[in-house]
Amino acid sequence: MATTKAPEDAYTAAPFVPEHADLAALREAAAGCRGCPLHRDATQTVFGAGDTGARVMLVGEQPGDQEDRRGRPFVGPAGKLLDRALAEAGIDPGETYVTNAVKHFKFTRSGPGKRRIHKAPSLREAVACGPWLAAELRLVEPELIVVLGATAGKALLGSSFRVTEVRGTVLEEEIHGRRERLVPTVHPSSVLRADDLGAYRGLLSDLKVAARALV
Ligand code: URA
Repeated sequence: MATTKAPEDAYTAAPFVPEHADLAALREAAAGCRGCPLHRDATQTVFGAGDTGARVMLVGEQPGDQEDRRGRPFVGPAGKLLDRALAEAGIDPGETYVTNAVKHFKFTRSGPGKRRIHKAPSLREAVACGPWLAAELRLVEPELIVVLGATAGKALLGSSFRVTEVRGTVLEEEIHGRRERLVPTVHPSSVLRADDLGAYRGLLSDLKVAARALV
């Protein structure tokens, strides 16, 4: 029997997001999200984590392989590098709330062992996941959002977002009905890939802008 597939622009998490829920209830509801097809291959939903009274919210792209297995954002190599850079910039990683634009791991399988290789989510998948991010923003009410890379930037600020044009600056924008202050920077995975001190120093310098914007 032929199966019918929802068109990509019909993807949305909205019907799965409970109204008037606290973060614990949101996290529980997100575990059952079927708003786009990414839930089919991922191990689990990786919802945001951290201090609910956080002044800073960090928004990444999507969980990686380790995050998918462990169910928490930024627990792999990119997260370790991010924690180190945050601490060096003067932001205590333990006092932040960390989440992703997309809450399921998207990957392809490749090589002899069929390793899971990260695949960037489409803009539609990021937009479909937007209601979870909107609910997290409403509840955490951060003073500042650190935008980690292009996917998070496009999810929050629209498809014309270019990280190279605005990184290390403090932006003020209306997002999901709230006036937000944001500092965009590169994704820590791109720093790992670049494997040079200049890339790390660039991330650090952007995070220092964020730290200064908080005082
Ligand atoms: N990269 C991300 O964008 N998020 C994670 O949680 C891990 C790696």
